[in-house]
Amino acid sequence: MSSDLSALLYLAASVCFIMALRGLSHPTTSRQGNIFGMVGMALAIGTTLAAPGIVSFGTILLGLLIGGAIGTVIALRIQMTALPQLVAAFHSLVGLAAVCVALATFYKPEAYGIGIVGDIQVSSLIELAIGTAVGAITFTGSVVAFAKLQGLVSGRPLVFKFQHTLNAALGASVVVLLVLLCTTQDPIYLWVLVAVTLLLGFLLILPIGGADMPVVVSMLNSYSGWAACGIGFTLQNNLLIITGALVGSSGAILSYIMCKAMNRSFISVILGGFGAEGEAGPAGADGDDDRMVKSGSGDDAAFLMKNAGSVVIVPGYGMAVAQAQHTLREMVDLLKADGVKVRYAIHPVAGRMPGHMNVLLAEASVPYDEVFEMDEINRDFKSTDVVFVIGANDITNPAAKTDPKSPIYGMPILEVDGAQTVLFLKRGMSAGYAGVQNELFFRDNTMMLFGDAKQMCEKIVKALEHL
Ligand code: TAP
Repeated sequence: MSSDLSALLYLAASVCFIMALRGLSHPTTSRQGNIFGMVGMALAIGTTLAAPGIVSFGTILLGLLIGGAIGTVIALRIQMTALPQLVAAFHSLVGLAAVCVALATFYKPEAYGIGIVGDIQVSSLIELAIGTAVGAITFTGSVVAFAKLQGLVSGRPLVFKFQHTLNAALGASVVVLLVLLCTTQDPIYLWVLVAVTLLLGFLLILPIGGADMPVVVSMLNSYSGWAACGIGFTLQNNLLIITGALVGSSGAILSYIMCKAMNRSFISVILGGFGAEGEAGPAGADGDDDRMVKSGSGDDAAFLMKNAGSVVIVPGYGMAVAQAQHTLREMVDLLKADGVKVRYAIHPVAGRMPGHMNVLLAEASVPYDEVFEMDEINRDFKSTDVVFVIGANDITNPAAKTDPKSPIYGMPILEVDGAQTVLFLKRGMSAGYAGVQNELFFRDNTMMLFGDAKQMCEKIVKALEHL
């Protein structure tokens, strides 16, 4: 294939990727976005395979078969709730790939036309060194994020004295190593650079608390994009440069949006001190609070909602775990048939990944015009009769506004306590993801509905049918 044709096809693939990102920005166009992404990827892979530089197809085919088989099995088996840690695991592989490509290029530069061992073009050496550094940070950072999200290590922020000083010193040594590597081309500096940046990846993510992990995952997504972009420069592959930059910048924008949603500073995330100011939750965080709560049954909930003028549903992680969205939709249909005005309120970090609740509600065919973002609906809670909180906790917790010591302090919340009655559907008194107790459970206008989200919704549906 001529280089002009391949450049044209790469350009077409890049346009498809841009259209994919555009489509994925809204639930109504997301399928279309996915199709653009698939077409773009098919074009990209096909064009790369048709390039004259490919010496043997055997190894590539083997890689495609093994990678494709593993990917298919994972895609079929993965639970929606485990997607964030899967994404973190995948990012770690992108980072590792960047490091491996950089090392291979350093030891065999002639294969990439960038010089010979000991005499590599300086511009290529700079790209290679930056790609290595970003890749190594992405690798260990993503491994820590995976371990925290999977519950393999504690989600609490791990802080120690002089953490920022140490990180700053390591950051400065990275710059020194880059200069030494580019001026001497001595492999020892490359290996020390790998070691230092691997350590930096660990240290940057360890102090970040579990509740702040969504931002970390999307930030690592951004890092992995920049690492891929670095590989693109090393391999002189325009498509990889463009797609790497797209992933890098979209990940950075998503991180920024999430920081805003949680009222955090983007700079503090990058520096890794994020969430460290939080302390353990107040007494009762593990459900050992012995204060009295008002609890009710499915019949009570059905009665209250059927007699309400307006109901707002607040879904959270527990709805995803119980896969209660379809039964919830049945419940809402019955309420609407009775003339109750029902809307859904979505917090930007409800569940365990961006858009988690939107995807589940779309799966249950909930009309988009009934689904409202936090900013659109927050002022309406005061005039709402009943709020039905299904498997959500942190995103309604007023400690985010009132307790500066809370790990979620500063995160905007869905202000459900303004409603006349708040129903909390959850299995017990356990805390949410951030590990802090929710004062709302003990309020006079709250009624707890203890049970699995799906089973309780089924009970409410039955009760509504007989009321
Ligand atoms: P959480 O605060 O985690 O609360 C979920 C609640 O669901 C728990 O308190 C749990 O209480 C209940 N639950 C679990 N399984 C249930 C089931 N089968 N039936 C009924 N209830 C069940 O969730 P949230 O309010 O959605 O807040 C999200 C949290 O996750 C935030 O802290 C956020 O920062 C963090 N986070 C978000 C993301 C993104 S991007 N969305 C990613 C990572 C972390 P019981 O055990 O008592 O039932």
